[in-house]
Amino acid sequence: MSKEYKRTLITTALPYTNGPVHIGHLAGVYIPADIYARYLRLAGRPVTMIGGSDEHGVPITLKARKEGVTPQDIVDRYHKLIKESFEGLGISFDIYSRTTSKIHSETASEFFRRLYDKGEFIEKTTEQLYDPEARQFLADRYVTGECPHCHNQGAYGDQCEACGTTLAATELINPKSTITGATPELRQTKHWYLPLDKWEPKLREWILEGHKEWKTNVYGQCKSWLDLGLQPRAVSRDLSWGVPVPVEGAEGKVLYVWFDAPIGYISNTKELLPDSWETWWKSPETRVINFIGKDNIVFHCIVFPAMLMAYGDNFQLPDNVPANEFLNLEGDKISTSRNWAVWLHEYLADFPGKQDVLRYVLTANAPETKDNDFTWKDFQARNNNELVAILGNFVNRVVVLTHKYYEGAVPAPGEFTAADREMLDELQALKTSLTENIETFHFREALKDAMGFARLGNKYLQDCEPWKTVKTDPERVKTIMNLCAQLCANIAVAMEPFMPFMSEKLVKILGGLPLNWNEIGSADLIKAGTMLGQPELLFEKIDDEAIQKQTDRLEAIKKANAIAAFQPEKVLPEVSIDDFAKLDLRIGTVLECQTVPKANKLLRFTIDDGTPTHRTIVSGIAKHYKPEELVGKQVIFIANLAPAKIRGIESQGMILSALNADGSLVVAGPTDKCNPGAQVK
Ligand code: MF3
Ligand code: ZN
Repeated sequence: MSKEYKRTLITTALPYTNGPVHIGHLAGVYIPADIYARYLRLAGRPVTMIGGSDEHGVPITLKARKEGVTPQDIVDRYHKLIKESFEGLGISFDIYSRTTSKIHSETASEFFRRLYDKGEFIEKTTEQLYDPEARQFLADRYVTGECPHCHNQGAYGDQCEACGTTLAATELINPKSTITGATPELRQTKHWYLPLDKWEPKLREWILEGHKEWKTNVYGQCKSWLDLGLQPRAVSRDLSWGVPVPVEGAEGKVLYVWFDAPIGYISNTKELLPDSWETWWKSPETRVINFIGKDNIVFHCIVFPAMLMAYGDNFQLPDNVPANEFLNLEGDKISTSRNWAVWLHEYLADFPGKQDVLRYVLTANAPETKDNDFTWKDFQARNNNELVAILGNFVNRVVVLTHKYYEGAVPAPGEFTAADREMLDELQALKTSLTENIETFHFREALKDAMGFARLGNKYLQDCEPWKTVKTDPERVKTIMNLCAQLCANIAVAMEPFMPFMSEKLVKILGGLPLNWNEIGSADLIKAGTMLGQPELLFEKIDDEAIQKQTDRLEAIKKANAIAAFQPEKVLPEVSIDDFAKLDLRIGTVLECQTVPKANKLLRFTIDDGTPTHRTIVSGIAKHYKPEELVGKQVIFIANLAPAKIRGIESQGMILSALNADGSLVVAGPTDKCNPGAQVK
C-alpha cells in the first residue's frame, strides 16, 4: 500500500503544556512515531515528522490561576521543558513548535474564517453556565459536578473521568464553579457549531469501508461513535485564553482548543516548510499518519477530518491513526495532577546516558493492543537481562576477539559453510519480519526481531566456538569473525530507529558505516580490513540501589496523595449518653509485648490495668509496631468487652487505635501519665 505514496507526513499529538511529559506520552505516541520516522529515513523515503506544544485549553489557565501567574508563563515554562526533554531522548522531530506562535493563530483564524464564509457552521444561542462572582462563563474544566451517567461527584464540564463519557457542562448535576466554588447560573451566549452529522455519510464510507486495516481499537471506537449518530459540536468558547474567534460580534470568545490544536499540525508544517507545505498536506501522493493516544481517537478520526472535509482544497485525511492504549505505572493510572508518573526530564537527570534503555523498555512494553504496566523491576530486568546480557555481550565479544586475533582489523572471509549460510538465511528472515512489523506499526514485535539479530549472533558464536577453532583451523575463524562483524553492523542499522544512541556508538566502534535500511541482511556491510575501535560497553548493569531510589520516590508520592485525598468517615448514627456509659474505657500501661508465633499480624500484650493480676490483650497491629516500641507506653482499652479466643490466647479487651490516610496506625493513649486502671469518660 505504501508504495503508491511519495512522502509520509507523520504527526504526533501535541502535548498540553500544563505539565512535563511522562512515560505514558512516550510509550503511546512519541517513541512509536520516532521509530517510524527514523525507519523511513533509513529506507530513503521522504518523511516529515511534526510535533509541537498544545498551549491552549482550560487546564492551563486553571494552573496559572492556582499559581498566581499568567497562562503565558505556564506555557513558556512547560514548552521549554518538554522541547528540551524530547531532544534529550532523541525524538527526531523535524519541527517542534507551539500553538501560541503567530503563524498558528493566523492559520487557525484563517481556517475558521473560511468555514464561516462557506456557511459550514451553525450559529446557536444557548444557555451556558456563568459564574456571577467571577463574572465569566464556565467552559469545560471550569465546572465540576455530579456525572449524570455514573454519579461520580468529581466529573468535569467536558468529561467524566470515572466513566469516560464526554459531557456538556450543562449536563452536570449540582455544578460548581472551580474558580469561586459558586453555583453557576444560566446565561445566554452565542457559539459556532460544526455540524458533524452533515459529514457522517462521508466519514462512514471513508473509515468503515475504506480503512478496515486500522487497528481494531481505533476502528471500533470510530464505529461506535458513528453508530451513535453524530451531533453538531461547538467550536468556540467564552474564554480569554486561546485564538480569538475571527468574526465580528465574537468579543470574549476563542476557538475551542480541540478546534485549533490539530490545525497546529498544519501551522507547524508551514513554519518548517514555508514554500512546500502544501505538497505535504494536499497532494494525494502524501500519506498522513497521526500518532496519538486512545483518548484522542475521536478528534483525529471524526472531528478533524470533518473540519478538513469542510475546508476542502484537497487536504488529505489521515491514511492511518495507529493510536495506542494507556501505560500504567506500578499498577496505577498515570496522572499529571496526582504526580503519578515517571517524568521524562527527571529520568534524563537520574539516568544520564541511558536514553536508549527507556526507549527500549517502553517499546518492548508498549500498550499497543491493551493497557500495559511499567514497573521499575521490569525496567531493571530488561536492561540487565536483555540489553546487557544479550546485545551488549554479543558486540563486546566480537570486538574483544577481533582485537585478540587480528589486532582489531576485520578479517576477510573465506568460503561460507552450511552453518554460515543458515545464519545468513535467518538474518534475512528476521529482516523481512522486522520490516513488515514496522510497516504495520507493530513496534513491539519489530523490536523483538531486531533483538533477534543479537540472539542470532550469540548463538552463532556459541555454535562456532572460534576460541577453540583458532587452534586447529585459523583460516576458518577469519570467516566466523568476519560474519560476526557483519552482524554487529546489521545490528547498528536495524536498531537505529529504536536505540539511536547505542547505534551511533556502535557505528563508531565499527569504524563508520553508511546507514541504509535496504542493506540490512547483507554480509558485506563492513569491509574487510576495517579497524575496530577499542571495546566499550554499550550498556551497563543497573543496580538495585538506583531502582530503590525510584520506587521510594513513588512510595512517598502515593502516601502524599492518600493524605491529600483523606476524607473522614461519615459519623455513625447518634447514641445516647446511656449507650456510651455501657462502654468501660480504661487507661493501661504496657508491661510486656510480644509477637505471636505463626501469626504475623498479632501482638500479645500484658497490660497493667491497676489490678494485681494484670490482663492479656491480643491486638492485630504487628504491622505497625515493633513489640519493644510499645513497652512502657500507656494505652486506652475497652475493659468490659466480652473475652475472645485468638490463636488459643484469651484476649481480655481491645486496645484503641486510629488508622491514618497513608495506611499507618497510631495507638490511642493519654497525653500525660495516668493511673493504670483509670476510667476514660
Ligand atoms: N493536547 C492533546 C492531549 O494531550 C492532544 C492534542 S493533539 C492535536 O490530549 F491534534 F490536537 F494537536
Ligand atoms: Zn461518569
